[in-house]
Amino acid sequence: MRIRNLGALVTGASRGIGRALAVELGRRGCRVALVARDPSGLDGVVQEVLQVGGEARAFPADVRDAEAMQEVAGKAASWLGRWQVVVANAGVGYHGPVLTTPAAQSEAVVSVNFLGTLNTLRAAAPFLQEAAPAAVGVVSSLSGLLPYRGGGIYAASKAALNALLACLRLELVHSRITLGWVCPGPVRTGLIVDGVPHRKLPVLARWTVPVLEPEQVAQALLRLLEAGGGCKVIPWQAALYVRVYRCYPRVAEWVLRTTGAGEV
Ligand SMILES: NC(=O)c1ccc[n+]([C@@H]2O[C@H](COP(=O)([O-])OP(=O)(O)OC[C@H]3O[C@@H](n4cnc5c(N)ncnc54)[C@H](OP(=O)(O)O)[C@@H]3O)[C@@H](O)[C@H]2O)c1
Repeated sequence: MRIRNLGALVTGASRGIGRALAVELGRRGCRVALVARDPSGLDGVVQEVLQVGGEARAFPADVRDAEAMQEVAGKAASWLGRWQVVVANAGVGYHGPVLTTPAAQSEAVVSVNFLGTLNTLRAAAPFLQEAAPAAVGVVSSLSGLLPYRGGGIYAASKAALNALLACLRLELVHSRITLGWVCPGPVRTGLIVDGVPHRKLPVLARWTVPVLEPEQVAQALLRLLEAGGGCKVIPWQAALYVRVYRCYPRVAEWVLRTTGAGEV
């Protein structure tokens, strides 16, 4: 399906990749419902979407709260009219040791990245089904596919998400809903400063995988949805590492250990 002049909802839309997605959808003439917790961040993005020719409205909510997401979905659907695209992008980063990370911290990461995405997709589903053909996009992460020291909790939240999406894609086979998700390497947003610090990633990855701009991720996801969805690792250098890791896990582990496996 072509993503032009449709009703869309984007989570994590107040900054970073979600902001870029909202602006790109606006440029394509879409009406975009913007979700994040911080209303002031959302208001700035509403203005940016208007400037590129789209329409936008802020719907502040926490994706961890399933009931709040149902409520927001209802309100967004009334405003959007026909709602055909949802992008679950909201996420938080975390870097730290697996065994000594406090339980509350691990829960916080999983509840946004995994359960928050599930809450978003569940809340949107009835409206998309009614308006089908429709598209469901998700921003996952390369971290869910490749191991690195200090990545465990964040990586697990994204690996769980990848598994969920692969199953959901099979469930949607006979529907008119396209599901696609991107697994980007590092992207130039606040998350690689505080959440998944780029400086702590394995040396080899830092040297050979270029840092993407949020706009590149937004465009890649919308292109993927237009091309029929599925899972896409970006950039191509990261996709190559994933292939090597899948085919030769011992070799990949040895390379990671000997070329700098990152700091915890
Ligand atoms: N940057 C990278 O290197 C990278 C690489 C691969 C994948 N990703 C993924 O890309 C997605 C976007 O990340 P980003 O890099 O754009 O990070 P970001 O700049 O920190 O933006 C994160 C967005 O998620 C929202 N958010 C966080 N917790 C939320 C909650 N509980 N409820 C609702 N919204 C929430 C934030 O808004 P509020 O704080 O106002 O709620 C913000 O809009 C995430 O899923 C991340 O895992 C990022």
